Amino acid sequence: MATEQSYVMIKPDGIQRGICGEIISRFEKKGLKLVAMKLMTIPKPMAEMHYSEHKNKKFFSSLISYITSGPVIAMIWEGDNAVQVCRCLIGKTNPQESEPGTIRGDFGMMTGVNVIHGSDSVESAKREISIFFRSEEIDTYDRSIDKWIYE
Ligand code: RTP
Ligand code: MG
Repeated sequence: MATEQSYVMIKPDGIQRGICGEIISRFEKKGLKLVAMKLMTIPKPMAEMHYSEHKNKKFFSSLISYITSGPVIAMIWEGDNAVQVCRCLIGKTNPQESEPGTIRGDFGMMTGVNVIHGSDSVESAKREISIFFRSEEIDTYDRSIDKWIYE
């Protein structure tokens, strides 16, 4: 077992469209464990820090406008190989190329309005978690159901 944490964020379009419950339920049903969650409107400097790897791309300013345009739901999901598992649930960056059954494949139409974010590596997850959560906001708890999820 390689227990990891992934930073997952429902973007402003997900909140506005009222599909958060359905999205969160997919992570729960998969077997991942929710260890932190909050609703927040991201201040611009925080958004720029989160997406700093894209600061020289031509879509950077529209990405920052989009991600700061309304509240997001910031979450940390924990589990075996959680970073890759979350990316599988989320689908490809372009929702039109995402498989049906993935979140972007089922709920999105455009790359610039693609519903949800998920960390792309364990290193990114650590960096992103430290931007959005203080350590005391991240919970630790046991789940009795884990014996029916993990062998
Ligand atoms: P994310 O970081 O949001 O989970 O998305 P990702 O890993 O699938 O894709 P990434 O390459 O990190 O891009 C970050 C976000 O920037 C927007 N984007 N627009 N117009 C474009 O070509 C373009 N490319 C990326 C998307 O909102 C993407 O999720
Ligand atoms: Mg990314």
